[in-house]
Amino acid sequence: IGDQIDLGGVTLECMPIPFAHWPDNTMFWMPQERLLFPSDLFGSHYAPDIPGKPDETIRIEQSRTYFSEIMMPFRSHVKGYVEQVRALDPAIICAAHGPVWFEPDTILSEYERMVSDKTTRDVLIAYVSMHGSTGRMVRLLAKTLSDEGIGVKLVDLGSARHDLRVPVGMVLTGAVFAGALILASPAVLGGAHPLVSAMTMLIGGINPPVKYIGIAGSYGWGSQMVKQLESLLGNHKAARLEPLLVRGLPAKEDEEAIKVYALELAARMKALPEGEVL
Ligand SMILES: Cc1cc2nc3c(=O)[nH]c(=O)nc-3n(C[C@H](O)[C@H](O)[C@H](O)COP(=O)(O)O)c2cc1C
Repeated sequence: IGDQIDLGGVTLECMPIPFAHWPDNTMFWMPQERLLFPSDLFGSHYAPDIPGKPDETIRIEQSRTYFSEIMMPFRSHVKGYVEQVRALDPAIICAAHGPVWFEPDTILSEYERMVSDKTTRDVLIAYVSMHGSTGRMVRLLAKTLSDEGIGVKLVDLGSARHDLRVPVGMVLTGAVFAGALILASPAVLGGAHPLVSAMTMLIGGINPPVKYIGIAGSYGWGSQMVKQLESLLGNHKAARLEPLLVRGLPAKEDEEAIKVYALELAARMKALPEGEVL
C-alpha cells in the first residue's frame, strides 16, 4: 500500500483493491496526469468501439455484462473502491480489459448504480422448454406482466448465442438490475432441465440483488425440481414466490392461475419501496 514507482517525471502510486475480482487486484494512479489504471475494475470482455464512433450504450451494456460475471459476487468490496475512485477524480480511466474511459463519470455512475443493490421494477425470466409447455407458461406470464406495465425480459436458455453473447450471460447482465427473477423449466429426470440447473447454480454463486425469485415450469408426473433448484440457490436472500407448476401444456384453469401469479408479481414489483428502486 502506498508504494510508488518513479517513471522519471511522473509516478505510479500502488493501490491494492483486493477482491474487485482476484485477491491481488491492484490499481495504479498517476497523480500528475490524473490517470487511473484500475486493473479489472471498470472493464469489459472486449472493446466494442467502432473507431471514431464510440457507442456509449453498447459500452455500458458490455461493462454491465463484465461486472455481472466477474464482480457482482464481490460488490460489497467494489462499492468501497468506486468511492475511492470518485474521490481521486481521474481524468481518464484505462481498465485492463475493454475500452478506455475518457469521460470517467459515465462508467463511475454506472458502477455506483450496480453496487447500490437497488433494482428496477422489471422481471427477468430465464427458461427452457423442450416441447413448448413451459414456453407457453412464460409467454403468458410475460404478456400479463407487460399488460400491467412491468418491464419483462425473456431469455430462452436453449437458444443460440446472440453475437458474442450466450443466453446465460444475458441473464446475468439482466440480473444486475431486475427486481424479480423467474427460473422456469420442464421437469427432467427427477429435477430441472440441466440448462436451468446450471443457470440457477450461477445465480446462487453470483448472488444478484433481485428482490424476488420464483421457480416455475411444466412436469409430466412429478419431480424434485423445486427442491433441487432451491438447494442450488443456496441462501440467496431474495423472497421466494410460491412455485408455479403445471402438468403438461397449460389448460384453461392453469392459464388463469398463471395470470393470477403474474398479477400478484406485478403488484409486488409496484410495491417495491421507492428508496430501493433505481
Ligand atoms: C427426457 C425427459 C425426462 C423427463 N423427466 C420427467 C420427470 O422426471 N418428471 C416429470 O414429472 N416429468 C418428466 N418429463 C416430462 C416433462 O417434464 C413434461 O413433458 C413437460 O410438460 C415438458 O415441458 P416442456 O414442454 O416445457 O418441455 C420428462 C420429459 C423428458 C423428455
